[in-house]
Amino acid sequence: MSPMFNFDAEFRLGIDLVDREHSQLVDMLNHTYELLSAGRRAEARRYFEEALTDYIAVHFADEEAFLEEIGYPHLEEHRRIHEQFKQNFATLKPRIASEDDAAFRQALNDAFTWLLVHIGKADRRYARFYAGQQKES
Ligand SMILES: [Fe+2]
Ligand SMILES: [Fe+2]
Repeated sequence: MSPMFNFDAEFRLGIDLVDREHSQLVDMLNHTYELLSAGRRAEARRYFEEALTDYIAVHFADEEAFLEEIGYPHLEEHRRIHEQFKQNFATLKPRIASEDDAAFRQALNDAFTWLLVHIGKADRRYARFYAGQQKES
């Protein structure tokens, strides 16, 4: 079973800690997908609701600490976007909990899309700020 998505160079922001964590999140979504495809739905559900959900919180906290460290001027806005993301993510639960594999798969697809849109837009915005800062110093 091939993964849904390979962490492409396009999503690399050039900040090691952040790139490692983003790549880990993509791997975890792929892993959930693989468990589901292998017919291990209960395990996939637990993995999604526990390991993956916890890791998202860890990543957001690490990222916000980094943004604070570099004095990112849009930190508060980014925090709000993370909060909204977690809330959206929580709305996937009923579909993950359903007996319907297609609904589960669709929820994973949505999670992928949200994650990639977040990295590609909001996270890329602070990466540009950081790159500019590095150039000046
Ligand atoms: Fe991020
Ligand atoms: Fe972020």
